[in-house]
Amino acid sequence: MHQGIDLDINLDKIDINAESPAEEPARQYYFMAKCRERVREFERETGRRPIACVTTFGCQMNARDSEKLSGILEAAGYLLTDSEEADFVIYNTCTVRENANNKVYGRLGYLHSLKKKQPSMRIALCGCMMQEEEAVEKLKKSYRFVDLIFGTHNIYKFAELLAQMYASDKMVVDIWQGTQRIVEELPAERKFPFKSGVNIMFGCNNFCSYCIVPYVRGRERSREPEDILREIGRLASDGVAEIMLLGQNVNSYGKTLKTPVTFAKLLQEAEKTDGIRRIRFMTSHPKDLSDELIDVMKHSKKICRHLHLPLQSGSSRILKAMNRQYTKESYLKLIDKIRAAVPGIAITTDIITGFPGETEEDFLETMDVVKKVRFDSAFTFIYSKRSGTPAASMENQVPPEIVKDRFDRLLKEVQDIAAHKAQELVGTTQTVLVESVNDHDASMVTGKMDNNAVVHLKGTPDLTGRFVTVRLEECKGFYYYGTVITDDTAAQ
Ligand code: 5AD
Ligand code: SF4
Repeated sequence: MHQGIDLDINLDKIDINAESPAEEPARQYYFMAKCRERVREFERETGRRPIACVTTFGCQMNARDSEKLSGILEAAGYLLTDSEEADFVIYNTCTVRENANNKVYGRLGYLHSLKKKQPSMRIALCGCMMQEEEAVEKLKKSYRFVDLIFGTHNIYKFAELLAQMYASDKMVVDIWQGTQRIVEELPAERKFPFKSGVNIMFGCNNFCSYCIVPYVRGRERSREPEDILREIGRLASDGVAEIMLLGQNVNSYGKTLKTPVTFAKLLQEAEKTDGIRRIRFMTSHPKDLSDELIDVMKHSKKICRHLHLPLQSGSSRILKAMNRQYTKESYLKLIDKIRAAVPGIAITTDIITGFPGETEEDFLETMDVVKKVRFDSAFTFIYSKRSGTPAASMENQVPPEIVKDRFDRLLKEVQDIAAHKAQELVGTTQTVLVESVNDHDASMVTGKMDNNAVVHLKGTPDLTGRFVTVRLEECKGFYYYGTVITDDTAAQ
């Protein structure tokens, strides 16, 4: 893990015996200082620093939130580890599909066994699943060994909640129903020194009928462009070369700001930051993808030639029931327009099978779009009933064996197409940002091309964080083997 936080704060200058400040982020710095004092006490008693583990479930937004949790723990003096045999463990949960919740319950059983061995261990849960009343009731009733529960809207208060948890011998639960608030200037501990996610907005207003996100992440709120650009500038001067702009629907960025700004304009501004070489973003909603954005992508030197554009279904009838606000035809037209403007762009997608009322004909429409578009890759999901969403109370739920059969056919099709498409690049020369030493072979490193494809290379660990020019030698379905031609980091 990258040691060093994005902000310089001197917590030792804060008087923790004074009253806590009311304003943010000063209030959180005060509680970070309090937590640090507790950490020092722990050190005096045990001769070591306390160890904390942050485990992330779910999407890129959660991954970025976890970096913020880690930043706060690091500022308080904790050592961070990936092992759950720690003094403090926090699960940042997801609830987009039922199995995400089940995973958390399963893992909590394991944490309980660890806590029985080491009763001073503290366990916290946060994130989307905690915004569901049912889940929190279940935890309160049957998982009494959990020490702290909070949700998505008050994550900025983590330092304060941590202090509260240590001061209490009861389970601390703090869940908000919503917020308009965005607290800037909190620390974050990046997983990679050379790349970072950057939140540009929070929440979602789309209410796709199957989706729980608008209920657990609240209404759409955009950060001010100046705050975003300041963060990007700071990341760049700290060695970050690749950024991923994050939001549930980045194409509607800025619409609710006092002075509205389009996502395309924000990208143009972000591109001006020296040191940033690659800009990615996700997720885009097809209904809001503007010509202006396509034009900016066409002329950009830094925006990666990759677009993640969730299809969800290829049937216009199902898309209507999903409240997606586009049709099969308009989606296909949009793809044509993007490909004409940005030749060679990689297009990836999300597809759900088994939405209520989906017939074989509807499913074949989805297969038809898959064959026509030829996605570079696709995440395929079995529809999962999320309580509280309109789709959950639709009567015509599809029997599981039919969904499974469709899912298998869909998966085979998307995988075959993806493998064929990937093959087309073998023999070409590409720029790769090396991200890590290879998991299976220490004489190799692994990186990503600008279209997001993974490449394994012979190379030493010092290549990590560098841009290299690579010849793609072989394609193994979803990833490549390549050889380094030049290390071009210095050439930028
Ligand atoms: N069931 C299955 N998949 C879902 N997704 C969102 N909600 C559900 C659900 N209830 C998928 C969508 C979305 C991705 C992040 O998760 O495809 O794009
Ligand atoms: Fe969910 Fe739709 Fe919002 Fe995406 S756009 S988070 S699928 S409601």
